[in-house]
Amino acid sequence: MTEDLLDGGERLGREGLAALQLERLRATLRHAYENVEFYRRSFDAAGVGPDDCRTLADLARFPFTAKSDLRDHYPFGMFAVDQSRIRRIHASSGTTGLPTVVGYTEGDLDVWADVVARSLRAAGVRPGHKVHVAYGYGLFTGGLGAHYGAERLGCTVIPASGGMTARQVRLIQDFRPEVIMVTPSYMLTLLDEFERQGVDPRSTSLEVGVFGAEPWTEEMRKEIEGRFAIDAVDIYGLSEVMGPGVAQECVETKDGLHVWEDHFYPEIVDPFTGEVLPDGEEGELVFTSLTKEAMPVIRYRTRDLTRLLPGTARVFRRMEKVTGRSDDMIILRGVNLFPTQVEEIVLRTPAVAPHFQLRLTREGRLDALTVRVEARADATPGQRAEAARTIAAAVKDGIGVSVGVEVVDPETLERSVGKIRRIVDLRESA
Ligand code: DLL
Repeated sequence: MTEDLLDGGERLGREGLAALQLERLRATLRHAYENVEFYRRSFDAAGVGPDDCRTLADLARFPFTAKSDLRDHYPFGMFAVDQSRIRRIHASSGTTGLPTVVGYTEGDLDVWADVVARSLRAAGVRPGHKVHVAYGYGLFTGGLGAHYGAERLGCTVIPASGGMTARQVRLIQDFRPEVIMVTPSYMLTLLDEFERQGVDPRSTSLEVGVFGAEPWTEEMRKEIEGRFAIDAVDIYGLSEVMGPGVAQECVETKDGLHVWEDHFYPEIVDPFTGEVLPDGEEGELVFTSLTKEAMPVIRYRTRDLTRLLPGTARVFRRMEKVTGRSDDMIILRGVNLFPTQVEEIVLRTPAVAPHFQLRLTREGRLDALTVRVEARADATPGQRAEAARTIAAAVKDGIGVSVGVEVVDPETLERSVGKIRRIVDLRESA
Protein backbone atom coordinates (compact mmCIF):
# COMPACT_ATOMS: atom_id res chain seq x y z
CA MET A 1 0.00 0.00 0.00
CA THR A 2 1.56 3.26 -1.03
CA GLU A 3 1.45 5.90 1.67
CA ASP A 4 -0.26 8.50 -0.55
CA LEU A 5 -3.43 6.39 -0.82
CA LEU A 6 -4.14 6.74 2.90
CA ASP A 7 -6.73 9.24 4.12
CA GLY A 8 -6.23 11.84 6.85
CA GLY A 9 -7.34 9.59 9.71
CA GLU A 10 -5.02 6.81 8.62
CA ARG A 11 -2.03 9.14 8.60
CA LEU A 12 -2.40 10.10 12.26
CA GLY A 13 0.29 8.87 14.63
CA ARG A 14 -0.72 7.07 17.86
CA GLU A 15 -0.48 10.33 19.80
CA GLY A 16 -2.53 12.38 17.37
CA LEU A 17 -5.07 9.58 17.30
CA ALA A 18 -5.36 9.45 21.11
CA ALA A 19 -5.91 13.22 21.29
CA LEU A 20 -8.60 13.05 18.62
CA GLN A 21 -10.28 10.10 20.34
CA LEU A 22 -10.44 11.89 23.68
CA GLU A 23 -11.89 15.03 22.15
CA ARG A 24 -14.50 13.03 20.24
CA LEU A 25 -15.26 10.81 23.21
CA ARG A 26 -15.97 13.74 25.49
CA ALA A 27 -18.25 15.31 22.89
CA THR A 28 -20.07 12.00 22.40
CA LEU A 29 -20.63 11.48 26.13
CA ARG A 30 -22.06 14.97 26.40
CA HIS A 31 -24.24 14.54 23.31
CA ALA A 32 -25.62 11.23 24.65
CA TYR A 33 -26.18 12.60 28.15
CA GLU A 34 -27.93 15.73 27.00
CA ASN A 35 -30.13 14.20 24.33
CA VAL A 36 -30.99 10.62 25.30
CA GLU A 37 -32.98 10.01 28.44
CA PHE A 38 -31.61 6.47 28.77
CA TYR A 39 -28.01 7.72 29.00
CA ARG A 40 -28.92 10.52 31.35
CA ARG A 41 -30.48 8.00 33.72
CA SER A 42 -27.77 5.39 33.42
CA PHE A 43 -24.93 7.91 33.92
CA ASP A 44 -26.76 9.45 36.89
CA ALA A 45 -27.35 6.02 38.43
CA ALA A 46 -23.62 5.25 38.10
CA GLY A 47 -22.73 8.66 39.54
CA VAL A 48 -20.77 9.84 36.49
CA GLY A 49 -21.18 12.78 34.14
CA PRO A 50 -19.65 13.69 30.78
CA ASP A 51 -17.02 15.88 32.46
CA ASP A 52 -15.68 12.92 34.44
CA CYS A 53 -13.99 11.61 31.32
CA ARG A 54 -10.56 13.28 31.38
CA THR A 55 -8.52 10.46 29.89
CA LEU A 56 -9.46 7.59 27.61
CA ALA A 57 -9.12 5.21 30.59
CA ASP A 58 -11.90 7.13 32.40
CA LEU A 59 -14.37 5.62 29.97
CA ALA A 60 -14.25 2.48 32.15
CA ARG A 61 -16.22 4.40 34.80
CA PHE A 62 -19.23 4.70 32.53
CA PRO A 63 -21.99 2.09 32.42
CA PHE A 64 -22.40 -0.43 29.62
CA THR A 65 -25.19 -0.46 27.08
CA ALA A 66 -26.72 -3.83 26.15
CA LYS A 67 -28.85 -4.97 23.24
CA SER A 68 -31.79 -5.20 25.67
CA ASP A 69 -31.44 -1.46 26.40
CA LEU A 70 -31.95 -0.78 22.70
CA ARG A 71 -34.94 -3.13 22.59
CA ASP A 72 -36.45 -1.49 25.67
CA HIS A 73 -36.45 1.81 23.81
CA TYR A 74 -37.95 0.44 20.62
CA PRO A 75 -38.28 1.98 18.12
CA PHE A 76 -36.69 5.44 18.35
CA GLY A 77 -36.01 5.99 22.05
CA MET A 78 -32.22 5.92 21.66
CA PHE A 79 -32.13 8.66 19.02
CA ALA A 80 -30.25 11.80 20.06
CA VAL A 81 -31.45 14.14 17.33
CA ASP A 82 -34.80 15.36 16.15
CA GLN A 83 -36.62 12.94 13.87
CA SER A 84 -36.44 15.49 11.03
CA ARG A 85 -32.65 15.02 10.93
CA ILE A 86 -32.86 11.23 10.56
CA ARG A 87 -32.15 10.27 6.93
CA ARG A 88 -32.12 6.47 7.18
CA ILE A 89 -33.28 3.70 9.44
CA HIS A 90 -31.92 0.15 9.58
CA ALA A 91 -32.81 -2.71 11.91
CA SER A 92 -31.34 -6.03 12.94
CA SER A 93 -33.29 -9.10 11.94
CA GLY A 94 -34.33 -9.82 15.54
CA THR A 95 -34.90 -13.57 15.34
CA THR A 96 -36.31 -13.41 18.86
CA GLY A 97 -38.47 -10.51 20.00
CA LEU A 98 -38.32 -6.98 18.68
CA PRO A 99 -35.74 -5.90 16.13
CA THR A 100 -33.04 -3.43 17.14
CA VAL A 101 -33.59 -0.15 15.33
CA VAL A 102 -30.79 2.24 14.38
CA GLY A 103 -30.89 5.69 12.77
CA TYR A 104 -28.46 7.82 10.77
CA THR A 105 -28.18 11.54 10.07
CA GLU A 106 -26.75 12.81 6.82
CA GLY A 107 -23.44 13.23 8.62
CA ASP A 108 -23.57 9.63 9.87
CA LEU A 109 -24.23 8.31 6.36
CA ASP A 110 -21.28 10.33 5.16
CA VAL A 111 -18.92 8.87 7.78
CA TRP A 112 -20.26 5.39 7.09
CA ALA A 113 -19.56 5.69 3.35
CA ASP A 114 -16.06 6.96 4.21
CA VAL A 115 -15.21 4.07 6.54
CA VAL A 116 -16.51 1.48 4.08
CA ALA A 117 -14.51 3.16 1.28
CA ARG A 118 -11.47 3.03 3.55
CA SER A 119 -12.19 -0.63 4.29
CA LEU A 120 -12.45 -1.49 0.62
CA ARG A 121 -9.20 0.30 -0.14
CA ALA A 122 -7.52 -1.71 2.62
CA ALA A 123 -8.96 -4.85 1.00
CA GLY A 124 -7.14 -3.95 -2.22
CA VAL A 125 -10.12 -2.45 -4.04
CA ARG A 126 -9.39 0.58 -6.24
CA PRO A 127 -11.48 3.26 -8.00
CA GLY A 128 -12.78 1.89 -11.27
CA HIS A 129 -13.19 -1.66 -10.00
CA LYS A 130 -16.60 -3.27 -10.39
CA VAL A 131 -18.01 -4.43 -7.06
CA HIS A 132 -20.68 -7.13 -6.95
CA VAL A 133 -22.62 -6.62 -3.71
CA ALA A 134 -24.40 -9.82 -2.66
CA TYR A 135 -25.09 -8.77 0.91
CA GLY A 136 -28.82 -8.36 1.39
CA TYR A 137 -30.33 -4.94 0.66
CA GLY A 138 -33.04 -3.75 3.02
CA LEU A 139 -33.19 -3.19 6.75
CA PHE A 140 -29.96 -5.24 7.09
CA THR A 141 -26.98 -2.87 6.94
CA GLY A 142 -24.86 -5.14 4.71
CA GLY A 143 -26.17 -4.27 1.25
CA LEU A 144 -26.63 -0.49 1.47
CA GLY A 145 -23.56 -0.08 3.69
CA ALA A 146 -21.34 -1.83 1.16
CA HIS A 147 -23.07 -0.04 -1.70
CA TYR A 148 -22.44 3.55 -0.65
CA GLY A 149 -18.90 2.79 0.48
CA ALA A 150 -18.00 1.29 -2.89
CA GLU A 151 -19.53 4.27 -4.69
CA ARG A 152 -17.62 6.62 -2.40
CA LEU A 153 -14.35 4.92 -3.37
CA GLY A 154 -15.18 5.46 -7.04
CA CYS A 155 -16.17 1.92 -7.95
CA THR A 156 -18.95 0.66 -10.19
CA VAL A 157 -21.50 -1.04 -7.96
CA ILE A 158 -23.58 -4.04 -9.00
CA PRO A 159 -26.36 -4.16 -6.38
CA ALA A 160 -27.20 -7.87 -6.71
CA SER A 161 -28.41 -8.32 -3.10
CA GLY A 162 -28.78 -11.87 -1.73
CA GLY A 163 -30.61 -14.81 -3.29
CA MET A 164 -31.38 -15.94 -6.85
CA THR A 165 -28.11 -17.82 -6.87
CA ALA A 166 -28.17 -18.93 -10.51
CA ARG A 167 -28.61 -15.31 -11.57
CA GLN A 168 -25.69 -14.21 -9.38
CA VAL A 169 -23.40 -16.58 -11.25
CA ARG A 170 -24.68 -15.34 -14.61
CA LEU A 171 -24.13 -11.69 -13.57
CA ILE A 172 -20.58 -12.40 -12.42
CA GLN A 173 -19.77 -14.01 -15.75
CA ASP A 174 -21.37 -11.26 -17.83
CA PHE A 175 -20.43 -8.11 -15.88
CA ARG A 176 -16.96 -9.34 -14.90
CA PRO A 177 -16.58 -7.67 -11.46
CA GLU A 178 -13.13 -7.69 -9.82
CA VAL A 179 -14.65 -7.62 -6.33
CA ILE A 180 -17.41 -9.48 -4.50
CA MET A 181 -18.89 -8.53 -1.12
CA VAL A 182 -20.91 -11.33 0.43
CA THR A 183 -21.12 -13.53 3.52
CA PRO A 184 -18.54 -16.33 3.41
CA SER A 185 -21.30 -18.95 3.73
CA TYR A 186 -23.17 -17.55 0.72
CA MET A 187 -19.88 -17.56 -1.20
CA LEU A 188 -19.87 -21.34 -0.70
CA THR A 189 -23.41 -21.51 -2.08
CA LEU A 190 -22.17 -19.56 -5.13
CA LEU A 191 -19.24 -21.96 -5.44
CA ASP A 192 -21.61 -24.93 -5.77
CA GLU A 193 -23.65 -23.04 -8.35
CA PHE A 194 -20.60 -22.24 -10.47
CA GLU A 195 -19.76 -25.94 -10.48
CA ARG A 196 -23.33 -26.93 -11.24
CA GLN A 197 -23.28 -24.62 -14.27
CA GLY A 198 -20.00 -26.19 -15.38
CA VAL A 199 -18.02 -22.97 -14.90
CA ASP A 200 -14.56 -23.20 -13.34
CA PRO A 201 -14.74 -20.84 -10.30
CA ARG A 202 -11.02 -20.13 -10.74
CA SER A 203 -11.69 -18.70 -14.19
CA THR A 204 -13.89 -15.76 -13.14
CA SER A 205 -12.93 -12.07 -13.22
CA LEU A 206 -13.01 -11.93 -9.39
CA GLU A 207 -9.78 -10.89 -7.66
CA VAL A 208 -10.91 -9.94 -4.15
CA GLY A 209 -13.70 -11.09 -1.83
CA VAL A 210 -14.69 -8.93 1.15
CA PHE A 211 -16.38 -11.32 3.54
CA GLY A 212 -18.14 -10.65 6.83
CA ALA A 213 -21.38 -10.49 8.82
CA GLU A 214 -20.65 -13.91 10.38
CA PRO A 215 -17.65 -15.70 11.88
CA TRP A 216 -15.37 -17.60 9.50
CA THR A 217 -12.04 -19.30 10.01
CA GLU A 218 -8.58 -19.37 8.44
CA GLU A 219 -9.48 -22.79 7.05
CA MET A 220 -12.47 -21.22 5.31
CA ARG A 221 -10.19 -18.50 3.93
CA LYS A 222 -7.91 -21.17 2.43
CA GLU A 223 -10.87 -23.04 0.98
CA ILE A 224 -12.39 -19.95 -0.68
CA GLU A 225 -9.06 -18.54 -1.88
CA GLY A 226 -8.04 -21.89 -3.35
CA ARG A 227 -11.31 -22.70 -5.06
CA PHE A 228 -11.87 -19.20 -6.52
CA ALA A 229 -8.26 -17.99 -6.98
CA ILE A 230 -8.99 -14.72 -5.15
CA ASP A 231 -7.79 -12.87 -2.04
CA ALA A 232 -10.32 -13.30 0.79
CA VAL A 233 -10.36 -10.59 3.46
CA ASP A 234 -12.49 -10.01 6.51
CA ILE A 235 -14.84 -7.06 7.11
CA TYR A 236 -16.52 -6.57 10.49
CA GLY A 237 -19.31 -4.41 11.78
CA LEU A 238 -22.64 -4.36 13.55
CA SER A 239 -25.73 -2.30 12.99
CA GLU A 240 -25.82 -0.89 16.54
CA VAL A 241 -22.39 0.68 15.99
CA MET A 242 -22.80 1.55 12.28
CA GLY A 243 -22.95 -1.49 9.98
CA PRO A 244 -20.13 -3.01 7.92
CA GLY A 245 -16.90 -1.01 8.02
CA VAL A 246 -16.14 -0.82 11.75
CA ALA A 247 -13.00 -2.89 11.21
CA GLN A 248 -11.25 -4.31 8.16
CA GLU A 249 -8.45 -6.66 7.35
CA CYS A 250 -5.70 -5.37 5.04
CA VAL A 251 -5.04 -7.52 1.99
CA GLU A 252 -1.26 -7.14 2.27
CA THR A 253 -1.09 -8.68 5.76
CA LYS A 254 -4.33 -10.67 6.34
CA ASP A 255 -3.51 -10.60 10.02
CA GLY A 256 -6.74 -9.54 11.71
CA LEU A 257 -8.89 -6.45 11.31
CA HIS A 258 -7.81 -2.87 11.88
CA VAL A 259 -10.47 -1.14 13.95
CA TRP A 260 -11.22 2.33 12.55
CA GLU A 261 -10.47 3.76 15.95
CA ASP A 262 -10.92 7.39 14.95
CA HIS A 263 -14.67 6.63 14.75
CA PHE A 264 -15.23 3.56 16.96
CA TYR A 265 -13.44 3.20 20.28
CA PRO A 266 -12.88 -0.46 21.23
CA GLU A 267 -12.46 -2.05 24.65
CA ILE A 268 -12.15 -5.69 25.63
CA VAL A 269 -13.89 -6.66 28.84
CA ASP A 270 -14.25 -9.79 30.90
CA PRO A 271 -17.70 -11.05 29.78
CA PHE A 272 -18.62 -12.03 33.35
CA THR A 273 -17.21 -9.24 35.54
CA GLY A 274 -17.19 -6.41 32.98
CA GLU A 275 -13.64 -5.51 34.00
CA VAL A 276 -11.55 -3.92 31.22
CA LEU A 277 -8.81 -6.29 30.04
CA PRO A 278 -5.42 -5.23 28.68
CA ASP A 279 -4.63 -5.47 24.95
CA GLY A 280 -3.72 -9.01 23.98
CA GLU A 281 -6.23 -10.67 26.30
CA GLU A 282 -9.33 -12.31 24.95
CA GLY A 283 -12.76 -11.15 26.05
CA GLU A 284 -15.93 -9.41 24.88
CA LEU A 285 -15.60 -6.55 22.44
CA VAL A 286 -17.24 -3.31 23.55
CA PHE A 287 -17.64 -0.21 21.35
CA THR A 288 -18.21 3.47 21.97
CA SER A 289 -19.02 5.54 18.90
CA LEU A 290 -16.90 8.69 18.55
CA THR A 291 -18.62 10.59 15.76
CA LYS A 292 -22.19 9.31 15.54
CA GLU A 293 -24.92 11.92 15.72
CA ALA A 294 -28.28 10.16 15.38
CA MET A 295 -27.59 7.29 17.75
CA PRO A 296 -24.43 7.51 19.80
CA VAL A 297 -23.61 4.27 21.61
CA ILE A 298 -21.68 4.24 24.87
CA ARG A 299 -19.83 1.05 25.80
CA TYR A 300 -22.05 -1.18 23.68
CA ARG A 301 -21.61 -4.88 24.51
CA THR A 302 -21.25 -6.69 21.20
CA ARG A 303 -21.07 -10.23 22.69
CA ASP A 304 -18.35 -10.89 20.11
CA LEU A 305 -15.24 -12.53 21.49
CA THR A 306 -11.79 -11.43 20.33
CA ARG A 307 -8.67 -9.58 21.47
CA LEU A 308 -6.96 -6.31 20.57
CA LEU A 309 -3.49 -6.33 19.05
CA PRO A 310 -1.10 -3.56 17.96
CA GLY A 311 -1.43 -2.09 14.46
CA THR A 312 0.63 -3.46 11.58
CA ALA A 313 -0.37 -2.29 8.10
CA ARG A 314 -2.13 0.70 9.73
CA VAL A 315 -1.65 2.72 12.89
CA PHE A 316 -5.02 1.52 14.24
CA ARG A 317 -5.11 -1.45 16.60
CA ARG A 318 -6.24 -4.76 15.19
CA MET A 319 -8.90 -7.10 16.48
CA GLU A 320 -8.29 -10.76 15.96
CA LYS A 321 -10.76 -12.54 13.68
CA VAL A 322 -13.90 -13.02 15.76
CA THR A 323 -13.98 -16.62 16.94
CA GLY A 324 -17.61 -16.51 17.92
CA ARG A 325 -20.35 -14.76 19.80
CA SER A 326 -21.01 -15.58 23.42
CA ASP A 327 -24.59 -16.26 22.23
CA ASP A 328 -23.37 -19.00 19.90
CA MET A 329 -21.28 -20.76 22.50
CA ILE A 330 -22.60 -24.24 23.16
CA ILE A 331 -21.97 -25.60 26.62
CA LEU A 332 -21.99 -29.33 26.21
CA ARG A 333 -21.59 -31.34 29.41
CA GLY A 334 -19.51 -28.51 30.85
CA VAL A 335 -17.31 -27.99 27.77
CA ASN A 336 -17.50 -24.75 25.75
CA LEU A 337 -17.72 -25.20 22.01
CA PHE A 338 -18.01 -22.70 19.17
CA PRO A 339 -19.25 -23.51 15.67
CA THR A 340 -15.97 -22.08 14.25
CA GLN A 341 -14.00 -24.81 16.05
CA VAL A 342 -16.05 -27.42 14.22
CA GLU A 343 -15.63 -25.49 10.96
CA GLU A 344 -11.85 -25.79 11.27
CA ILE A 345 -12.10 -29.55 11.74
CA VAL A 346 -14.64 -30.13 8.95
CA LEU A 347 -12.58 -28.14 6.46
CA ARG A 348 -9.46 -30.18 7.26
CA THR A 349 -11.25 -33.49 6.72
CA PRO A 350 -11.07 -35.17 3.31
CA ALA A 351 -14.20 -36.50 1.55
CA VAL A 352 -16.59 -34.00 3.16
CA ALA A 353 -17.86 -30.67 1.77
CA PRO A 354 -17.64 -27.39 3.76
CA HIS A 355 -21.37 -27.57 4.56
CA PHE A 356 -22.28 -28.51 8.11
CA GLN A 357 -24.84 -28.00 10.81
CA LEU A 358 -24.79 -28.55 14.57
CA ARG A 359 -27.85 -30.27 15.98
CA LEU A 360 -28.53 -30.03 19.68
CA THR A 361 -30.86 -32.56 21.26
CA ARG A 362 -31.59 -33.77 24.76
CA GLU A 363 -31.19 -37.40 25.65
CA GLY A 364 -32.66 -37.95 29.08
CA ARG A 365 -31.11 -35.21 31.17
CA LEU A 366 -28.03 -34.77 29.01
CA ASP A 367 -27.57 -32.55 26.00
CA ALA A 368 -26.16 -34.19 22.90
CA LEU A 369 -24.61 -32.65 19.83
CA THR A 370 -24.56 -34.11 16.36
CA VAL A 371 -22.39 -32.66 13.63
CA ARG A 372 -24.19 -33.17 10.34
CA VAL A 373 -21.83 -32.68 7.43
CA GLU A 374 -22.25 -33.25 3.71
CA ALA A 375 -20.16 -35.78 1.84
CA ARG A 376 -18.36 -34.60 -1.28
CA ALA A 377 -20.09 -35.90 -4.41
CA ASP A 378 -17.33 -38.41 -5.22
CA ALA A 379 -16.89 -39.81 -1.68
CA THR A 380 -17.21 -43.61 -1.35
CA PRO A 381 -19.18 -45.16 1.56
CA GLY A 382 -15.85 -46.17 3.09
CA GLN A 383 -14.49 -42.61 2.90
CA ARG A 384 -17.69 -41.26 4.43
CA ALA A 385 -17.44 -43.59 7.40
CA GLU A 386 -13.77 -42.72 7.79
CA ALA A 387 -14.59 -38.98 7.71
CA ALA A 388 -17.21 -39.43 10.45
CA ARG A 389 -14.65 -41.19 12.66
CA THR A 390 -11.97 -38.56 11.94
CA ILE A 391 -14.28 -35.64 12.82
CA ALA A 392 -15.54 -37.27 16.02
CA ALA A 393 -11.96 -38.01 17.11
CA ALA A 394 -10.76 -34.48 16.28
CA VAL A 395 -13.61 -32.92 18.30
CA LYS A 396 -12.87 -35.24 21.21
CA ASP A 397 -9.11 -34.52 21.11
CA GLY A 398 -9.24 -30.84 20.24
CA ILE A 399 -12.32 -29.61 22.12
CA GLY A 400 -12.63 -32.35 24.71
CA VAL A 401 -16.18 -33.58 24.27
CA SER A 402 -17.89 -36.51 22.53
CA VAL A 403 -20.25 -35.67 19.70
CA GLY A 404 -22.11 -37.70 17.12
CA VAL A 405 -21.19 -37.20 13.46
CA GLU A 406 -23.49 -37.92 10.52
CA VAL A 407 -22.11 -37.66 7.03
CA VAL A 408 -25.17 -36.90 4.92
CA ASP A 409 -25.68 -36.93 1.14
CA PRO A 410 -24.51 -33.98 -0.96
CA GLU A 411 -27.04 -31.13 -1.37
CA THR A 412 -29.13 -32.10 1.65
CA LEU A 413 -28.29 -29.40 4.19
CA GLU A 414 -29.89 -25.98 4.11
CA ARG A 415 -27.82 -23.49 2.09
CA SER A 416 -27.04 -19.95 3.17
CA VAL A 417 -28.37 -16.94 1.29
CA GLY A 418 -27.01 -14.51 3.88
CA LYS A 419 -25.93 -15.19 7.43
CA ILE A 420 -25.82 -18.91 8.01
CA ARG A 421 -27.56 -20.60 10.92
CA ARG A 422 -25.12 -23.21 12.19
CA ILE A 423 -26.95 -24.36 15.31
CA VAL A 424 -30.27 -26.17 15.17
CA ASP A 425 -31.55 -26.42 18.71
CA LEU A 426 -34.09 -29.22 19.08
CA ARG A 427 -33.88 -29.40 22.86
CA GLU A 428 -37.18 -27.65 23.60
CA SER A 429 -39.16 -30.13 21.54
CA ALA A 430 -37.17 -33.17 22.75
O1 DLL B 1 -23.64 -8.08 10.09
C1 DLL B 1 -22.93 -5.85 9.55
C2 DLL B 1 -22.07 -6.39 8.47
C3 DLL B 1 -22.58 -6.54 7.19
C4 DLL B 1 -20.74 -6.69 8.71
C5 DLL B 1 -21.77 -7.01 6.19
C6 DLL B 1 -19.93 -7.13 7.71
C7 DLL B 1 -20.45 -7.29 6.46
P1 DLL B 1 -25.54 -7.12 12.20
O2 DLL B 1 -26.57 -7.80 11.38
O3 DLL B 1 -25.97 -6.11 13.19
O4 DLL B 1 -24.52 -6.35 11.29
O5 DLL B 1 -24.72 -8.26 12.92
C8 DLL B 1 -23.58 -7.95 13.67
O6 DLL B 1 -22.52 -10.05 13.10
O7 DLL B 1 -21.93 -8.55 16.27
C9 DLL B 1 -20.97 -10.27 14.82
O8 DLL B 1 -21.48 -11.20 15.74
C10 DLL B 1 -21.30 -10.70 13.42
N1 DLL B 1 -20.25 -10.27 12.49
C11 DLL B 1 -20.24 -9.23 11.66
N2 DLL B 1 -19.08 -9.20 10.94
C12 DLL B 1 -18.35 -10.27 11.36
C13 DLL B 1 -17.07 -10.79 11.02
C14 DLL B 1 -23.72 -6.91 10.31
N3 DLL B 1 -16.30 -10.25 10.07
C15 DLL B 1 -22.94 -9.20 14.18
N4 DLL B 1 -16.65 -11.88 11.70
C16 DLL B 1 -21.67 -8.93 14.95
C17 DLL B 1 -17.41 -12.47 12.64
C18 DLL B 1 -19.09 -10.94 12.35
N5 DLL B 1 -18.62 -12.03 12.99
